Amino acid sequence: SNIDFEESGAKIIDSSVDLYKKADVVLKVQHPTVEEISYFSSGMVFVSLFQTTRNLNEVRAMTDIHVTGFSMHLIPRTTLAQKMDALSSQANISGYKAVLVAASRLGKYMPLLMTAAGTIRPSKILVLGAGVAGLQAIATAKRLGAQVEVFDVRPIVKEQVESLGAKFVEIDSNGEGVGDGGYAKETSEEYKKKQQELIHKHIAKSDAIITTALIPGKPAPILISKNMVSDMRPGSVIIDLASENGGNCELTKKDEIIEYNSVTIDGTSNFPATMPIHASELYAKNISAFIKYMIDDGKIKIDLEDEIISGSLFTYKGEITDDTTRKVMDLNK
Ligand code: NAI
Repeated sequence: SNIDFEESGAKIIDSSVDLYKKADVVLKVQHPTVEEISYFSSGMVFVSLFQTTRNLNEVRAMTDIHVTGFSMHLIPRTTLAQKMDALSSQANISGYKAVLVAASRLGKYMPLLMTAAGTIRPSKILVLGAGVAGLQAIATAKRLGAQVEVFDVRPIVKEQVESLGAKFVEIDSNGEGVGDGGYAKETSEEYKKKQQELIHKHIAKSDAIITTALIPGKPAPILISKNMVSDMRPGSVIIDLASENGGNCELTKKDEIIEYNSVTIDGTSNFPATMPIHASELYAKNISAFIKYMIDDGKIKIDLEDEIISGSLFTYKGEITDDTTRKVMDLNK
């Protein structure tokens, strides 16, 4: 509540407009609206989670008034920047909560149980995409006793998946899904076809599917078609953590929970918001680590030679400084 902020030394101001007009630095969770940006001042530093290749109007508005914009999405995934990595701190929450939500929707136990009334088979969970969210989903599902199968385009994650006690489902690929910086990239049509056949087989046996597959700056790859959903067991569940970027299931509706052929498809896009205490605590630590890193002699210093600072900077002195954002902007002119 506001009292907590005041006790920590902050002053509460009623109107955000006044706040924006006076501030040298604005820190937010989400990207600002174009209206909010109109109250920002030239040279102001802005930091938030910001999908700069999607929120182009907002990027343009920030460029027009020379705001110095940083996106927590663009912080490089380096060892030094780990404490500033908000994508990881929030994705971890999503992976964890997705499994809990799936478990609570299933009309089944997760673990194997041997009772006097008979043996209960463990639930089968399929995780598509073993990045930060996927790995946390695997760990959480294993802790609940489920049988977990995992698929990812990056073969490198196999070892991590297996060390969590899950089974890695493999496609013969020569690593073609591996892109820059350890992220995934788009795959060929042939690979996509092979992948779809394989996923189709595994989907039909799964009780819950947690999808987390993302390709930075691109719409999420469709991994589960309507057809595949039709072959799922009644009562099974899909939690689509890629819903913000369009979803990994063809039927996903962002921020809606729908039912198709007795299969529940949950398109909640912001699971971290359902765990606000730790989501805020971790995000605040990420942001403060980033700001402290930039401060030199009591002032924010924009050192363009620094990999973390230049990597996360996307608008500076009226220019778009992030290459990918600039490319997407040029295509959309
Ligand atoms: P992400 O959110 O971009 O993607 C999630 C997962 O989906 C990835 O594992 C990706 O390979 C997978 N994926 C993409 N397309 C797919 C498809 N068609 N089918 C199946 N899976 C697909 O990834 P996230 O979680 O942001 O992590 C990306 C990488 O960055 C990971 O290797 C992670 O270990 C690394 N990382 C490194 C850090 C560091 O060194 N400080 C910190 C955090 C992450």
